[in-house]
Parts: sequence; structure tokens; C-alpha cells
Amino acid sequence: MTRLDRVEQTRGRLAGPSLTPRTAVIWSVLRAELDRRGDTDLTVLDVGGGTGGFAVPLAQAGHRVTVVDASPDALAALTRRAAEAGVADRVRAVQGDGDALAALVEPGSADLVLCHAVLEVVDDPAPVVAALAAALRPGGAASVLVAGRAAAVLGRAMNGHLDVAATLAADPAGAAGPRDTLRRRYDAEGAAALLAAAGLVVEEIHGVRVLADLLPAAVADGQPAALVELERALAARAPWRDLAAQLHLFARRPA
Ligand SMILES: C[S@@+](CC[C@H](N)C(=O)[O-])C[C@H]1O[C@@H](n2cnc3c(N)ncnc32)[C@H](O)[C@@H]1O
Repeated sequence: MTRLDRVEQTRGRLAGPSLTPRTAVIWSVLRAELDRRGDTDLTVLDVGGGTGGFAVPLAQAGHRVTVVDASPDALAALTRRAAEAGVADRVRAVQGDGDALAALVEPGSADLVLCHAVLEVVDDPAPVVAALAAALRPGGAASVLVAGRAAAVLGRAMNGHLDVAATLAADPAGAAGPRDTLRRRYDAEGAAALLAAAGLVVEEIHGVRVLADLLPAAVADGQPAALVELERALAARAPWRDLAAQLHLFARRPA
């Protein structure tokens, strides 16, 4: 039985979120941390939290969540979603740029920081990660999700865009030029080094969407439970982890 299997069996206070190939592995890791903290109501910061896909279930589990996001539209949707879920009092929406995070969050105030699908779009990831680390209390944890470079190279090549795949593979940042929607992509070592440089200790790295983006829709939509199970089985294992569309890093500020 893997660690993720064990976590799935102890769902604790967080019984709500539906598990999809995009979220199952991340929720498993987060649930382990929430279970570790027992009945404590945590202070959570979700940077680039968007419409609240993680923030609202965390608030429903009793935690206080501040979402910092650049998009007023996303924050408006977050606020509506939190109200509909009955947790408006536990969700705070702050409009702001991740690149200016240090000025927006109180140092040492968060038990858990989320930064999902943001470090690939900000101007400079190093100061953002430094601000994430500074926002954490000693012993607090960071959940960081970044775009994977290997999956992007394979995906472009399999769609016939060999020139783009070659550019992505050769570019130091893992981007495909000015028309790319992302500024950079990561491999596990590079992402871990980024977090370590900010003083965070990386405890776990998982692949998210190892298979989901590669399968025909008929397979992915037709066997959703089997796909989630297979994603969870492959998430921590070489070579599958490193081929995932996204890499999830769980790190901690030393106590
Ligand atoms: C791909 S979405 C991810 C949303 C959410 N974290 C998730 O994983 O479902 C990226 C989010 O980051 C926000 N964002 C993009 N650039 C940002 C920046 N420089 N500072 C803060 N938020 C940013 C966007 O508005 C969007 O809500």
C-alpha cells in the first residue's frame, strides 16, 4: 500500500473535494498535512488561487484562507463560490500581483501556503518563492504546483510540432518563444532547487496528470475512477513522475 493509499483512507475533516486526475494527488498530499495538524484551524494563503478550487474546500474544512490573485474576475467568482458554499466568512480575496507578494502578506503568518500554476507565469519566480517562504510560520508547509517541461516537449512532438518541441527542449527556461502562454517550465530538480534556495525543505515531489492529457477523451471520460487510481499509482514513481504535465512539490519551512 502506498502512502497516498493510506492517506485516502483517512479523509479527516476534508471530505468534500471531488477527486479528478488534476486534483487527486494534490489533495492526497494536502490531506496528509491537514490530518497531521489534527483539529487545528489553519491559516492558509493561496497565491494565484483563482476561483477557489482549493480555497473553498479548505474553508469548508474549517480553515481560514486568503487568496491573492491578479484577476478581479477570478476573485469575484471566488467570492460568489465561497458565499454559495457558506464559507464567505473564512475566505478573504486580495487582488494583487504575485511578483509583489512580499508587500501583500504578513511574514510568518501562514500555516500552509499554496502556489499552484503560478510560478510559470510570474516575471521572476525567485522573489515570489522567497515571499511564500517568508509568509510561512516556522514549521509551516508549502504546496507548489508547476508546469512540467518533459510533458510539454512530448505533447508538442506528438501533435506534429517538432520545431516547437525542439525549442522547448533546448530553451533554458523551457518556453517556446514569445507566443508561448507560459514563461517557463520545470523539471523536478530545477523546481526543487528554486524552493531550496528560499530556505524551504522539499519533502515530496509528485507528478500530476502523468497520463490524463495523453489519453483519448473516450478513455479518460469513460473510466474516470480507474484513471484517478492509475495517476495516483504512478505519481511518485520514476520515470512516470517526471513525464507528468505538472509537478507538485510539498515543502516545509524549517521549525
Ligand atoms: C492557471 S490559474 C491557477 C488557479 C489555481 N491556483 C488552480 O490551480 O486552480 C493561474 C491563476 O494565477 C493568477 N495569476 C496569474 N499571474 C499572476 C500574478 N502575476 N500574480 C498573481 N496571480 C496571478 C491568474 O489570475 C489565475 O487565477
